[in-house]
Amino acid sequence: MRLAALACVRAVALGVACATGASAASPSAAASAQGGPPALSTLPAVPIPAANPPNEAKLQLGRMLFFDARLSGDGSTSCASCHVPQHGWAHGDALARGYPGHRLWRNNPTVLNAAYRRRLMWDGSLDSLEAQARAAMQAPVEGNGKATMIEMRLRLVPEYRDLFCRAFGDAWPQLDHAWQAIAAYERTLVSDPRQVPFDRYLAGDREALSASARRGLALFEGRAGCIQCHHGALASDEGFHALGVPRQPQFDSHPLVQIAVRWQNVQRGAADATGAGHDGDLGRWYTTRDGADIGRFRTPTLRELVYTAPYMHNGVFGTLREVVDFFDAGGGSTPNKSPLLRALGLSEQDKSDLVAFLESMSSERPRVVDAPRLPPLQPLGDAVACAPPQAGSEGGPAAGSASERP
Ligand code: HEC
Ligand code: HEC
Repeated sequence: MRLAALACVRAVALGVACATGASAASPSAAASAQGGPPALSTLPAVPIPAANPPNEAKLQLGRMLFFDARLSGDGSTSCASCHVPQHGWAHGDALARGYPGHRLWRNNPTVLNAAYRRRLMWDGSLDSLEAQARAAMQAPVEGNGKATMIEMRLRLVPEYRDLFCRAFGDAWPQLDHAWQAIAAYERTLVSDPRQVPFDRYLAGDREALSASARRGLALFEGRAGCIQCHHGALASDEGFHALGVPRQPQFDSHPLVQIAVRWQNVQRGAADATGAGHDGDLGRWYTTRDGADIGRFRTPTLRELVYTAPYMHNGVFGTLREVVDFFDAGGGSTPNKSPLLRALGLSEQDKSDLVAFLESMSSERPRVVDAPRLPPLQPLGDAVACAPPQAGSEGGPAAGSASERP
């Protein structure tokens, strides 16, 4: 309860609507009651920004656009190419594939439950799903789409004209509204607590966790100290920490990855134009330019991990057991290493218990949707601008835009 209420206070402060969901008092609340870190908790209601309320047409449009590769430059890459529903809305590659001819330098995070995030990306460089969608489709190494070109494409799809009209009152599809529709759709991609054993446990069903997972929970909150950084509804403090995760071997062996790393460092001002200066990932530093943030990455959510391997910002660990071994050793080595990490001395049994507990935070069945049928481009012919519906007729827009024919 307490955490859901806190999330709401924060949501209101950010100017977004918020309602407390049915959130059960946590049997694991003991830690926070004694002034320790907040307890693990169930997900509250999704915060919805006042500027982008959902309506039926918008969600339908957002779902289609998420799967529509025509948002990318050469029509090859959609959001779902990298955030694959069957892979927990992440991707099985250690480092994300990029726009054809590219490779990226980081692992794909899941979009499931991203709606709850205060900051997005491994380094927290973006703060809204709307801005994130725009960045993803226009970045040269991801979607590589040119804004006016994508907008023209959308305008030549009659079904999209109709949906933008009903969702936003657009006379002709507006690209910024495409990002809003995708973001609105992403806010529906959240874990179903009835599917997640740990959420059922929090709701009072003690049998929802195996004995091993219950021991794992006790370690997580106790001797292993995971709760210090992994707490709340996402099992993340939303903070940034340097753990000394090992360097991804592809940084030294894969030419396309080396191009990506050098390009990122030039773009973000950590290397000179020749690419000399830095050939790693500085994490949070790129946003804050604070030396103390070098090597710090955002604490990931621990929900849905069963489907989102491999792990860490650089996908260097293939299994949860490897991650637990890493923490057991007290993390790796890096100048800004978090003082919260120390060797844990876990037994074999402890390690499997921790893994069993981590697995209990995933849905029993993956949340999968079929790719929607995508409507074809049609010659413009004598198409006319749509007449926006009256406000309130489908929860639709208050005022329509009145742009001219494309
Ligand atoms: C080429 C692969 C690729 C494509 C295409 C792509 N993404 Fe991503 N996405 C990534 C990677 C990699 C990251 C993490 C990047 C980072 O941290 O620097 C990411 C991060 C995100 C995040 C942040 C998640 C979090 O927990 O912070 C969201 C949300 C997201 N993508 C949604 C989208 C949407 C929506 C689209 C389509 C408009 C899209 N992505 C297209 C690879 C991709
Ligand atoms: C000092 C804060 C901190 C502590 C303590 C901590 N973690 Fe983490 N954890 C993080 C951060 C930050 C990352 C991401 C690091 C990166 O990619 O560089 C992470 C990554 C992970 C991941 C990978 C998730 C993914 O999607 O890639 C798992 C699993 C995990 N931690 C579990 C644990 C467990 C289990 C413990 C206790 C044994 C623990 N953590 C202790 C901060 C912490």
